[in-house]
Amino acid sequence: MPVAIITGASKGLGRALAEALAVRGWDLVLDARTAEVLARTAAELERHGTRVRALPGDVTDAGHRAGLVATAGTLGGADLLVNNASALGAEPLVRLEGLPLEGLRRALEVNVVAALGLVQEALPLLRASRAGAVIAVSSDAAAEAYETWGGYGASKAALDHLTAVLGEEEPGLRVWAVDPGDMATDLYAAAVPDDDDPRPAPAAVVPAFLRLLDERPASGRYSAPSLLEQGR
Ligand SMILES: NC(=O)c1ccc[n+]([C@@H]2O[C@H](COP(=O)([O-])OP(=O)(O)OC[C@H]3O[C@@H](n4cnc5c(N)ncnc54)[C@H](OP(=O)(O)O)[C@@H]3O)[C@@H](O)[C@H]2O)c1
Repeated sequence: MPVAIITGASKGLGRALAEALAVRGWDLVLDARTAEVLARTAAELERHGTRVRALPGDVTDAGHRAGLVATAGTLGGADLLVNNASALGAEPLVRLEGLPLEGLRRALEVNVVAALGLVQEALPLLRASRAGAVIAVSSDAAAEAYETWGGYGASKAALDHLTAVLGEEEPGLRVWAVDPGDMATDLYAAAVPDDDDPRPAPAAVVPAFLRLLDERPASGRYSAPSLLEQGR
């Protein structure tokens, strides 16, 4: 069975994607910092009959990243890496004039440095897969200038660029940056607590990710809402 490593998979989009892959028979290596929530999620996903390994930890910890990849190795390899765990840099988001530099550093460390660290760690297994793929979960804020989203958006823009270059450097893999669109998650609520507009559930955008895996389009940047629209 194919094996996916998904970071930030205890809740939100990471969990929804993990569940969809479990339903399709994928074995999973999942992480998140909060051990109890992650363990509960893993136990629920195991009911789909696949092997689920849950490693609590922070993606910024190199030892933890090595543990995720080593665990995938014990399941037979890694066919998909999803860099999904993310930091906002300030909760709620603030204008650049007041953005704590420590928050910006954290966003860059989680969203960019750790993501590349995990790619580097996983590359040998991904290259050995018959259908190796990397997904970087991006954001509209990487491409558009929204007030208060500057630090987070800059980190996602950097992630997009790394992802684009990785796609050029690794022609044997598929490397996709995916903007999932707005979703009703804890991250969104932390970013904009006063926003009461309804947002789609993360499960609603998962078919866009599955479409990428099924159709394996060229490496590049994709938007989940567009993929969903084209799939109608
Ligand atoms: N929600 C939106 O509207 C939206 C829009 C555009 C893009 N995105 C992107 O979508 C992705 C998923 O976000 P979400 O909205 O699903 O967020 P979420 O529901 O808050 O889930 C985030 C997950 O990441 C884990 N996590 C956070 N920091 C981590 C770290 N340093 N190391 C390991 N795990 C960590 C969290 O668990 P712990 O807290 O226990 O670690 C949780 O499992 C992110 O890349 C986000 O930037 C979201």
